[in-house]
Amino acid sequence: TGRVRTHHLQQAKDQGRKFTMLTCYDASTATVFDTVGIDVLLVGDSAAGVVYGYRNSLPVTVEELLPLAGAVARTARRALVMADLPFGSYQGSPEQAYATAVRFMKEAQVAAVKLEGGAQMAPQIQRLVAGGIPVCAHIGFTPQHEHALGGYRVQGRGADAEQVLADAHAVQDAGAFAVLLEMVPADLAAQITHELNVPTIGIGAGTGTDAQVLVWQDAFGLTSGRLPHFVKQYADLSTVLTQAARAYAADVHTGVFPGPEHTF
Ligand code: KIV
Ligand code: NA
Repeated sequence: TGRVRTHHLQQAKDQGRKFTMLTCYDASTATVFDTVGIDVLLVGDSAAGVVYGYRNSLPVTVEELLPLAGAVARTARRALVMADLPFGSYQGSPEQAYATAVRFMKEAQVAAVKLEGGAQMAPQIQRLVAGGIPVCAHIGFTPQHEHALGGYRVQGRGADAEQVLADAHAVQDAGAFAVLLEMVPADLAAQITHELNVPTIGIGAGTGTDAQVLVWQDAFGLTSGRLPHFVKQYADLSTVLTQAARAYAADVHTGVFPGPEHTF
């Protein structure tokens, strides 16, 4: 099985097969996720929180995200590796978006980029696509717009559904190869998925999308604090790591580690 490419994701949708995406920020996890066949690895700007310790995604910079994207892209053999364009690195103009995306393609060697926004980002999407850069659009709740949207809240309820639907069509028409839907009602996400030709990827968007994505620390239990309602927790890595770190510290304090078998 060769490299996953954007046309394989389109093929999955056309054939009614779901595909999978997880966030990924380093070589160790890229090896695991790639080996089990996760189709798309997203070097998300969620790295702001899980890697860099910021309170939200806004502070993370291109300089901070590029090395993480490079690590994942160098490691994955099969998965399509995609990077988020950070807040402030593309909204200014299509040329700014192009210059930033080129850095991710050249310096990190990712295969696609993702940016947040609907109809208003159509010029940016068109510019990237014209330059040969595959773009995934992220609509619905867009964390980089947290302050404009008034906090973390579901988008597209009631009359607001029309706007999200219009955004979905606008980004497809601009050339996006996929549309990520975050925190929108399941029936709206299913309708968008049905109406669009390109695949949809959901997070907090129900079961009707063509793919799902989660932040891996959320899904596998390495996030401290309250989990979003849409996360299913598949493991409790936090407990595993806590016990391992405690056992190591205790062994060092008592002189149990290193033992004779670890000693030259
Ligand atoms: O940054 C990120 O991790 C994301 C996903 C949650 C979709 O954009
Ligand atoms: Na993101």
